[in-house]
Amino acid sequence: MLSVVPSPVVVRAPAKVNLHLGVGDLREDGYHDLTTVFQALSLCDDVQLAPSAALRVKVTGEGAEEVPTDRGNLVWQAAVKLADLGGRAPLVEFAISKGIPVAGGMAGGSADAAAALIGLNDLWELGLGRTELSEIAAELGSDVPFSLHGGTALGRGRGEKLLPVLSRNTFHWVLALAKDGLSTPAVFRELDRLREAGDPPRLGSPEDLLQALASGAAEQLAPLLGNDLQAAALSLKPDLRRTLRAGVTAGALAGIVSGSGPTCAFLCADEDAAVAVAAELAGAGVCRSVRTAYGPVPGARRILGDN
Ligand code: C5P
Repeated sequence: MLSVVPSPVVVRAPAKVNLHLGVGDLREDGYHDLTTVFQALSLCDDVQLAPSAALRVKVTGEGAEEVPTDRGNLVWQAAVKLADLGGRAPLVEFAISKGIPVAGGMAGGSADAAAALIGLNDLWELGLGRTELSEIAAELGSDVPFSLHGGTALGRGRGEKLLPVLSRNTFHWVLALAKDGLSTPAVFRELDRLREAGDPPRLGSPEDLLQALASGAAEQLAPLLGNDLQAAALSLKPDLRRTLRAGVTAGALAGIVSGSGPTCAFLCADEDAAVAVAAELAGAGVCRSVRTAYGPVPGARRILGDN
């Protein structure tokens, strides 16, 4: 008789870069209102889920030792939430394989949370739809709904209210990873401090950027990239200025700090240009390591276990 070996549940979730990150004033709940345009990139984490006698989190890959393996990890919180909802114990082991830089401003923790939601929904046969999963995602963190959604999207509120955006073509990126991470709350606090001390310029509406995305021309998109958190990230890590300059000198169309940093993201004209910029940046001694990536890619999704 044929026996069916159940395939493991493995979910792949993408990194993100904010093409536009407009930050409003500090709200009473400690968050800032955002107007942001996210793009999901081909740099991914894989999360494998298996039934277990206890809730456990294992992490491998670059920077794994900095990732919490207790309730400080969003996958842990996702498991507790969904177990409560399903009236069961959170008996699952997560094996996270990191491809997204840790504390890099690329939503690596959020990607893992989104992967956990998709994986647990399947593993525990909860039958939750996209809308329900998105609501739970928003409770876990501001970027988690986008990690589920993927593609290119306009985010409002804390970043959790999403509208899909028309993006023609694939864009090619080089990512310069920094030696140490930056804490997202610390970068937002630094922006508040800079705004109290002076009046740093604020981004306007992303209208022109949305049109450039619809046109699909990287050359048109490049000068419109912007990030209000960049001044704060540069204030905390002044070395990033050198990194940003080096990428553009190497031939990138434009460079920005990704989200709250410290990863710098460089938009390139095409794949060949990205490879050339990556090679030059890797030799310039201005960052820990370099990756190439493309976007947009889909949000968190199940893959075959042996991929
Ligand atoms: O939502 P999440 O837990 O990922 O946010 C981490 C921190 O980033 C928040 O505690 C807050 O300090 C800051 N944040 C913010 N405004 C946002 C999103 C995040 O101030 N819209």
